[in-house]
Amino acid sequence: MSQVGKVYGVILAGGSGTRMNSPTPKQFLPLGGVPIFIHSVRALLSEPRVAQLWIGSNGDWLELAQQQIAEFCGSDKRIHLCEGGADREGTLLNTLAAIEEKNEIGENDVALIHDAVRPFATRRIIRDVIREMEFCDVCNTVVPVNDTIVQSVDGSIISGMPRRSELFAGQSPQGFRIRALIDAFRRLDDQTRKQLTETTMVCFKSGMPIHIVRGEFFNFKITTPYDLEVAESILDFVEAQKNI
Ligand code: CTP
Repeated sequence: MSQVGKVYGVILAGGSGTRMNSPTPKQFLPLGGVPIFIHSVRALLSEPRVAQLWIGSNGDWLELAQQQIAEFCGSDKRIHLCEGGADREGTLLNTLAAIEEKNEIGENDVALIHDAVRPFATRRIIRDVIREMEFCDVCNTVVPVNDTIVQSVDGSIISGMPRRSELFAGQSPQGFRIRALIDAFRRLDDQTRKQLTETTMVCFKSGMPIHIVRGEFFNFKITTPYDLEVAESILDFVEAQKNI
């Protein structure tokens, strides 16, 4: 068991949202009258252990992000905005670099990384991830899968049927000891790094044990217009659950 030092919240808000088919990236679209990423920002800020909150956003949209933060979050001194990257990991690396530039990062300091478009994280999940970080360097939020998952290499014939009881779907927030994560990225060659679509994969490839905590089915990622409609329709239900 090791101590958890300073906790930095990181909101990944640098995506373009192609599958949403909207000229404005989906994280800036309203959900219940509030931009989607602001829900995520508020969720992390509701945890007092989050000492600073860093938002990595796309260069073209930094001004809009800044405006929406000012309108919906007032002048919370914990919020910092920086430039994102070409993909999710690029945004993460740029944001970690911005954090490093302004702070002395200790061995036990932790980044709590959250997708901007996952507006329904609860305080219980956030607390569980921070608590679990006392026992590991990396922690992911997951839910069990309810459907039977099949694998098909060629897209027409089933090539594998993994056991459902051993399968989980990854969500966020994800917790990382910042120094350990940066070391894991450095250990990978460029080729491997490009193939990894998930931050926890970087750690998995580096042989680090990754702990899991239970998420919520409603803590889903808004990807398509359908998801946004579902999110609107469950907003009241989730608001009631969020502070539990
Ligand atoms: N993300 C990011 N920087 C990128 C790409 C993605 O910070 N260059 C963030 C998104 O803003 C989002 C999360 O990573 O909060 C998950 O992204 P996802 O929805 O999978 O990708 P998008 O690029 O936003 O959407 P699409 O794949 O439909 O283009």
